[in-house]
Amino acid sequence: MPAPTDRILLSSQQIQERVREMAADIEADYPEGPIYLISILKGAFIFVADLARALSRPSIRIEFMAISSYGTARTSSGQVKVTRDLDVNIEGHNVLIVEDIIDSGVTLSYLKTLLDARRPKSLEIVTLLDKPERRIQTVDVKYVGFRIPDEFVVGYGLDFAEDYRNLSDIRVLTP
Ligand code: IMP
Ligand code: MG
Repeated sequence: MPAPTDRILLSSQQIQERVREMAADIEADYPEGPIYLISILKGAFIFVADLARALSRPSIRIEFMAISSYGTARTSSGQVKVTRDLDVNIEGHNVLIVEDIIDSGVTLSYLKTLLDARRPKSLEIVTLLDKPERRIQTVDVKYVGFRIPDEFVVGYGLDFAEDYRNLSDIRVLTP
């Protein structure tokens, strides 16, 4: 399915190793109790599945939210809307927002404010990828898998117009 010219930026093996390291960091930072992983659909679905399995305690609660941001296929605009909200109360719990990529920062800064208002015990962000060059809103991100250059990437949950999410490595599409 990928074009032969599409370049692999992160191999499946590199991703798996880094996910295990991130899980170890999280385990060390939260020695006990349940952790709520709030995964942002759809892009983070594969990452959260791997991250959850790399965490060893039984009380990993996996929840989903969906967000839409109006814009073109490759960028988000500043207009964020929750299209599927949580159906659990996060008050008093340790919560991690799990995202595929942070680009402008608009989506995550909106979400962080929204969830903070629900008074979790702690609220941090885990993102597999970070494109710091593209940031227009500052967001405090505690766990970053890989900092990547400003290139449009697909695979491992990330799409271009809904395609490519199923690839097990992360690729840069040839234009
Ligand atoms: P932000 O609000 O600009 O930080 O938007 C982040 C969202 O934009 C991600 O959750 C993705 O859905 C999308 N996005 C940003 N960059 C990429 C990319 O390189 N590939 C695929 N989706 C991307
Ligand atoms: Mg996304």
